[in-house]
Amino acid sequence: MSLNAAIIRKDFPIFERLIRGENRLVYLDSGATSQKPNAVIDAEADFYRQSNAAVHRGAHQLAEEATEAYEGARLIVANFLGAREDEIIFTKSATESLNLLAYAMGNSLKGDRFHLGADDRIVVTEMEHHANLLPWQQLSKRTGAKLSWFNVGPDGRLDLSDVDSIIQEDTKVVALTHQSNVLGTINPLDAIVARAHQVGAVVILDACQSVPHMSIDVEALGVDFLAFSGHKSVGPTGVGVLWGRSELLNELPPFLFGGSMVSSASMTDATWAPVPRKFEAGVPNMAQAVGLGAALEYLENIGLENIHAHEIALTGRLIEGLLEIEGVKIFGPTDLKMRGGVVAFTVSDIHPHDVGQYLDSLGIAVRTGHHCAWPLNKKFGINATVRASIYLYNDEADIDALIEGVRGAKKYFGDR
Ligand code: ALA
Repeated sequence: MSLNAAIIRKDFPIFERLIRGENRLVYLDSGATSQKPNAVIDAEADFYRQSNAAVHRGAHQLAEEATEAYEGARLIVANFLGAREDEIIFTKSATESLNLLAYAMGNSLKGDRFHLGADDRIVVTEMEHHANLLPWQQLSKRTGAKLSWFNVGPDGRLDLSDVDSIIQEDTKVVALTHQSNVLGTINPLDAIVARAHQVGAVVILDACQSVPHMSIDVEALGVDFLAFSGHKSVGPTGVGVLWGRSELLNELPPFLFGGSMVSSASMTDATWAPVPRKFEAGVPNMAQAVGLGAALEYLENIGLENIHAHEIALTGRLIEGLLEIEGVKIFGPTDLKMRGGVVAFTVSDIHPHDVGQYLDSLGIAVRTGHHCAWPLNKKFGINATVRASIYLYNDEADIDALIEGVRGAKKYFGDR
């Protein structure tokens, strides 16, 4: 079954509006945040209208209903990832999920599995979003653990020619992105996972740009932890997910302390509730979690395979069209087998912000800048790119509008 973007667009009320005058909205910034279907907006609003109460606390009917809805959302996320329910932790964002891991490891005592010191190593990659670089970089500074990374080649792929010398025997953590938010590169994981496990390290996957766009099964990936955000998956803002293997989550100390994460507390000590509640201190983002459940059900009804195939077809059309324009340079692989629907490019020597502003005047939304991946930009000797990111509601008209828009920008800024 293929996907019909015209029908899908009807589910997203934002596409009814016009942009900068009378322009159709051409939304190509889903890598930053996705638009929301009515099913998600309604699920979140209905929670507030019908069942709003603090989960896991009250004995009244509303509390019961709220808890049921919240735990129902956890089950949906677990099924979506091929995981167990008690392995799903709700956070406020993917950024918080990754920080949770880094801070929890930082809270580990000497002798604990996740304790890091000067004899240990953390491995990342040069293509990380700051959200999966800075927590590890700072943990390395706090603990003295060494920090190493996989380089990115000119083709926008990780240099995996010598995995064993990057992931050395002293490595405890390997943190990497599944799909680059700048280059679109989908990283092959097998060799990294195998080597990491050989030396006893855990693999942490930033799946923000993959979970919303392709079918994911955590067992098949073989990683140990995975983070993604709700808002890039047609879900609400304010909710993220951390998945982790049960035995590892049990060993990890808490990150946030407070209500609902204890099994007992005295004036001088406390013991922790079982996972996942050990990691969900405070009243959580309940309506947002329920909205995320609706979002993942929406994606599943359309089919992740269909979504991925649709995006790849549009990505091919975009790359082909852009490469026909003299002066356009695409960063990242052009081979569609190695990438997702994120395409970063420059247009001659026109500043990406100028290109972005010109496109905006036509109703075309793209992201411009370093995309929170400064080291990667430096590697390519650039400060910024224009980035188009494609999702299920985009169609060929969107892609053609962007290609024409780039041609227009070249003319407007003086065909340099
Ligand atoms: N992380 C988001 C992006 O890459 C905001 O645009």
